[in-house]
Amino acid sequence: MKLLAILFLAVLSGTMLSGGEFPWSKIEAIKAQLLRKDEIYEGRFPEYTRDGAWTFRKKVNWFSGFISGELWYLYEMTGDEELKERALAHADALRSYAGIDYTHDMGFIFLPSVVQAYRHTGEEQYRAAGVHAADMLAKRYNPQGKFLRAWGKLGSDDRAGWMIIDTMMNLELLFWATEVTGNRDYYDIACRHAITTMSESVRPDGSSYHVVEFNRDTGVVERKRTHQGFSDESTRARGQAWGLYGFANAYRRTDDERFLTVARKMADYMIGHLPEDSVPYWDLNLSGEDVLRDASAGAVAASGLMLLAEVEQTKEDYEKYMATSERITRSLLQNYLYTESTRSKEEGILLHTIYHYHNKWGVDESYPAGDYFFIEAVWKLWKKLEAENPITDSPQR
Ligand code: GLY
Repeated sequence: MKLLAILFLAVLSGTMLSGGEFPWSKIEAIKAQLLRKDEIYEGRFPEYTRDGAWTFRKKVNWFSGFISGELWYLYEMTGDEELKERALAHADALRSYAGIDYTHDMGFIFLPSVVQAYRHTGEEQYRAAGVHAADMLAKRYNPQGKFLRAWGKLGSDDRAGWMIIDTMMNLELLFWATEVTGNRDYYDIACRHAITTMSESVRPDGSSYHVVEFNRDTGVVERKRTHQGFSDESTRARGQAWGLYGFANAYRRTDDERFLTVARKMADYMIGHLPEDSVPYWDLNLSGEDVLRDASAGAVAASGLMLLAEVEQTKEDYEKYMATSERITRSLLQNYLYTESTRSKEEGILLHTIYHYHNKWGVDESYPAGDYFFIEAVWKLWKKLEAENPITDSPQR
């Protein structure tokens, strides 16, 4: 049945082109700014831009792998070997951090860097680093509550019972580790975490909580709240996007229909709260001229919706999610992409993103996750259009 659905969608995707040609001129601008950004980073770990200029942190954090992933996608789109060399250099620099024990963000850090390096080179050193990172993520599993702990150093009391919706995005590292090792434990942990997130973080209307606090010893839920959203009962736009993307991926990996159902519910809630230009306000329960957008939430949603479309089983659902994905990506390309005419100093690629509103970190600025998921959405659009109509004469190749 699934095979028939895939064949049907493959035929369908060959006949459907919902928004026009691939914007090659924008790729040149993205590539130039990415190379410039790589020079500015100088191997340091970026955080977000302040007045357009990058700020840095000493410690590896969830942003540290994104530059590598951006370079891989641009390399695939342009064939420029220099981009591949730079992507590998970043992956090499991260290999020795695969044993860090203070974050759930192992997927965000190591999927775009060492796992991509392994896919491109087949070299054992990258596979080993990716599996080591997956081991460190698996160690964060709390068997009482059946969830992966988000924050705090392993063994410490620091937020030991906290689960967040964002972790859905890190599960892919566990699915990948089962794929390359044959060890099913990673897969089982990923599924158990996804089931807990489905029942505790997603509300009946498809919206989501950012944080669920468990008693770490008994596994009993004590509180549901936000950390970066507007309020405990509102829905942070990026959290919603992480959820719909993560559940679509969990379905892709497992064929468990419950994950497809919840991915659809989360997607439909998000789509129902998009403004005119399809780029979300930073919290889905806010709106109005004075409310800032979070273009990064749009980028994550665009990429996640394309994945959801690809795993869908009906023409109607495929078209709905694919068309929304493409509409968001084109809107970002049109109005949220860095251009020479924006501020005098503008070192990011995707503008008008919000990293942490309450802490005033990267508010209406750029930050690495925004740049990465935006480029991923563009790369997916490129792959789709290439599959429909191979581009043989682009100036970039
Ligand atoms: N994963 C952290 C964030 O979305 O800000």
